[in-house]
Amino acid sequence: MRRHSKDSVITDTVHTGPRHVAIIMDGNGRWATQRGRPRLFGHHAGARRVREVVETCPDIGVEYLTIFAFSTENWKRTQVEVAGLMSLFRRYISKEARALSEFGVRVRFIGDRVRLDAKLISLMDELETLTSGNTSVNLTIALNYGGRDEVARATKRLAQDVADGKLRPESVDEETLPKYLDTYVLPDPDLVIRTSGEARISNFLLWQSAYAEYEFIDTLWPDFSREEFTRLCASYGGRERRFGGVKR
Ligand code: FPP
Repeated sequence: MRRHSKDSVITDTVHTGPRHVAIIMDGNGRWATQRGRPRLFGHHAGARRVREVVETCPDIGVEYLTIFAFSTENWKRTQVEVAGLMSLFRRYISKEARALSEFGVRVRFIGDRVRLDAKLISLMDELETLTSGNTSVNLTIALNYGGRDEVARATKRLAQDVADGKLRPESVDEETLPKYLDTYVLPDPDLVIRTSGEARISNFLLWQSAYAEYEFIDTLWPDFSREEFTRLCASYGGRERRFGGVKR
């Protein structure tokens, strides 16, 4: 992985690209099938794509990158595919840890850890700790993540705080709930990209993406390139966002 100095991050005032990009990495299975290979071959190719996208972020001013690696619905896949993906995550985390850290990437995980195996959870914890002082890119990996599940878990904790007398029901507003979400330290995504031609958000960052721009592109995730990522972020810079208001 290329080393990156903090000084090359685009921080000037004319930067209008997205600060936080979220990606639904779809199409690994079809990419593998097109090549007559098992679906897991596509997931491995997809995992290799992640590095190039992470490395591109500082060059184009993206400070936060959030990627959808495994959804709460993905457990419905065959046992072989689920086990293969879990093994890929374990291997990816241990293999990429040093490279990500040297590049200055801070890694966080979102999602419910309850169903994940102990080995994977400890690798996730270690990587979060190892990279906690890094600042070049904030990479968030959504693992056993579902937007509705996240809101339900947040609401449960919020209700508990009300029951414990730590929170008054009348003080709950739009600023309160996000503090209980897995993403509480992250800004909302500015741009959500989904690959593989599907125009759905599939339960990803439901609360957080209320005002995000969306890009649905035909490219299958293993073919997604630095150039395409750069182009999508540049085209975001040309759009006008009004957050429900009017043009001034
Ligand atoms: C969706 O494609 C992709 C997934 C469910 C897994 C995403 C995982 C990766 C890209 C690799 C691992 C990532 C990390 C961070 C190590 P699909 O299988 O649904 O594709 P299809 O729609 O063509 O079947």
